[in-house]
Amino acid sequence: MRKILVTNALPYANGPIHMGHLLGYIQADIWVRAMRAMGHDVTYVCADDAHGTAIMLRAEANGISPEAQIANVQKEHIRDFDGFGVHFDHYDSTHSDTNRARASEIYIKNREAGNIAVRPVTQLFDPEKGMFLSDRFIKGICPKCKAEDQYGDSCEVCGTTYNATELLNPKSTLSGATPVEKSSDHYFFKLPNFGEYLQKWTRDEGRLPVSIANKLDEWFDNGLNDWDISRDAPYFGFEIPDAPNKYFYVWVDAPIGYMSSFENYIKTKRPDLSFDDFWKKDSENEVYHFIGKDIVYFHALFWPAMLEGANYRTPSGLFVNGFLTVNGQKMSKSRGTFIKAETYLEHLNPEYLRYYFASKLSDKVEDSDLNLDDFVQKVNSDLVGKVVNIASRCAKFINTKFDNKLSATCAEPQLVQSFIDAGDSIAKAYEDREFSAAIREIMALADKANQYIDEKKPWVLAKIEGEEQQVHDVCSVGINLFRQLAVYLAPVLPTLAQQVQDFLQLESFDFASRETILVGHEIALFQPLMQRVDPKAVAAMVDASKDSLAAPAEAPKVEKKKEKKAEKKPEPKVGEAEIIGIEDFMKVDLRVAEVLEAAMVEGSDKLLQLTLNVGEAEPRNVFSGIREFYQPEDLKGKLVVMVANLAPRKMRFGISNGMVLAAGNGDGVWVISPESGAIPGDKVS
Ligand code: MSP
Ligand code: ZN
Repeated sequence: MRKILVTNALPYANGPIHMGHLLGYIQADIWVRAMRAMGHDVTYVCADDAHGTAIMLRAEANGISPEAQIANVQKEHIRDFDGFGVHFDHYDSTHSDTNRARASEIYIKNREAGNIAVRPVTQLFDPEKGMFLSDRFIKGICPKCKAEDQYGDSCEVCGTTYNATELLNPKSTLSGATPVEKSSDHYFFKLPNFGEYLQKWTRDEGRLPVSIANKLDEWFDNGLNDWDISRDAPYFGFEIPDAPNKYFYVWVDAPIGYMSSFENYIKTKRPDLSFDDFWKKDSENEVYHFIGKDIVYFHALFWPAMLEGANYRTPSGLFVNGFLTVNGQKMSKSRGTFIKAETYLEHLNPEYLRYYFASKLSDKVEDSDLNLDDFVQKVNSDLVGKVVNIASRCAKFINTKFDNKLSATCAEPQLVQSFIDAGDSIAKAYEDREFSAAIREIMALADKANQYIDEKKPWVLAKIEGEEQQVHDVCSVGINLFRQLAVYLAPVLPTLAQQVQDFLQLESFDFASRETILVGHEIALFQPLMQRVDPKAVAAMVDASKDSLAAPAEAPKVEKKKEKKAEKKPEPKVGEAEIIGIEDFMKVDLRVAEVLEAAMVEGSDKLLQLTLNVGEAEPRNVFSGIREFYQPEDLKGKLVVMVANLAPRKMRFGISNGMVLAAGNGDGVWVISPESGAIPGDKVS
């Protein structure tokens, strides 16, 4: 029996759980349940990530203390996870005494090992708020292209990156005040001390998905930098030992929360487990972190380095999920696809979503799409149409004609055995986090079971005198096949599995239990197991998600005002823009272009790199700020309209040679496409 500790990324304590979050939590929960069903001792912990400026400001806006803020949100998070059957053994908070002690200890050990440096840093300071401002709390005019309202790190219009101090006419988005430059001492973690160690670590067998390790190589090639781990007061977090008024940056104590949550758990509920058995350097037990792809940097570099520097073991592996889109696009409040866990639960059965996610997930770091039509279709045809159907077709006869007892012998031992045997590869698929493969195998079995029943037609036999035994045998085989399927689906559908276990009156539902065929076994009265997804309920959920934004209950007035200030300047209304002559317009050379290639841009979550055929000898390279709304594959092969005579612009990622036209309202962007018939190079006027 393996002893395994599993964690999920710790959600921030400043907002609700939504569909995107759930992808990774449901993934981990399924894995934990599957590994337990295979007989392993798995401990599964999580916590709220309670520190940082965002949470401090959110509390302030809500007019409550940060402690009250994080307590409220934690209750909601626990409720939501519970609602989706994501069952942690323990759910803690990073704002705990245990975590404070552990963070201090890890810091001090690193300091003693020579991994901490102190030096002054000059930053923008909000004199009205009395605090240093991180880049996202500063806006001003882009020093390069002079676009207004740009954040302190990079320009969304021209893509240039710069220091906040270079912005023209900078303003604090918190108070509107003009920030001043101010210097203060910062504490640094000397990440370069771990360069060689990490380069090897990230290539260790099973440690990271290969695609991630490759990406990390680019970072190694660019050279690692010291990591700024301190923030000046006011900050909601832990004070750094021997450094009054300096606080650990939230990402220091956040992953340490994995350790302290585990520690608090075993202290109270598992005295048979020891902290050292899991965390000391040569521990043979396994530790896995499930995380989203956006936080790999922290988990694959800083975290193992901090642990190594403090002489602890590092995680056995990082399991990384891609991002979730809904209906093919980034979740959007205006489209009603920014769906909160709470809203979903008001309308739909959580197991539908668990099944849908499972049917999509693999061990690859790929984005997944929750397409709501496909969701309805898949759940209805697979779970209701195929799986549950088997039980309802057979149970009725066993309950009414055979006194709830299955046949004394199995009429199709080979068929049932083939279902039992299939369990080995299904279990392996679960263990490898190839959930979509597991689901495919299970559904192929479900098809086989339905075929068997369709061929035997117990409902016809039941009307023929003298065929009672046949009816009994066929339905008993059907129930046995159904039981196999339910065992295999149990990690994904724990509630359904529990109902089936009760119905079949079985003591165990783990993977090994499936090996005994049920003969002469008494079952309970069949109860309907799962209803079809009602598309109306899905529509109602989308509607409610639209509402939930129009009047966000938790956002008080003060905060709204602030957000207003931070908002982009609105586009001028139709009719309000500057009047230009036709000669001005004619200067713009608009052309039809075909998207030959569309690719993600390393290091930018706003841009896509497009290779466009404009009917010239050479294709054009264009960077387009539509990454949030389009996947590369949505654009490949599409005809678009581009400005072909725009001066080439040098961007951080290369030279952009033109601009693609798109319509947008701030919430979405729609690339403009000519009707079919146009060809690349056609003039647009
Ligand atoms: N607090 C940090 C994690 C600290 S771990 C020591 C954090 N919190 S989060 O609330 O922003 O995200 C929690 C998890 O949800 C992360 O794994 C993140 O990648 C994941 N996701 C958030 N939005 C997501 C999607 N739209 N799609 C898939 N996963 C997403 O990051
Ligand atoms: Zn700019």
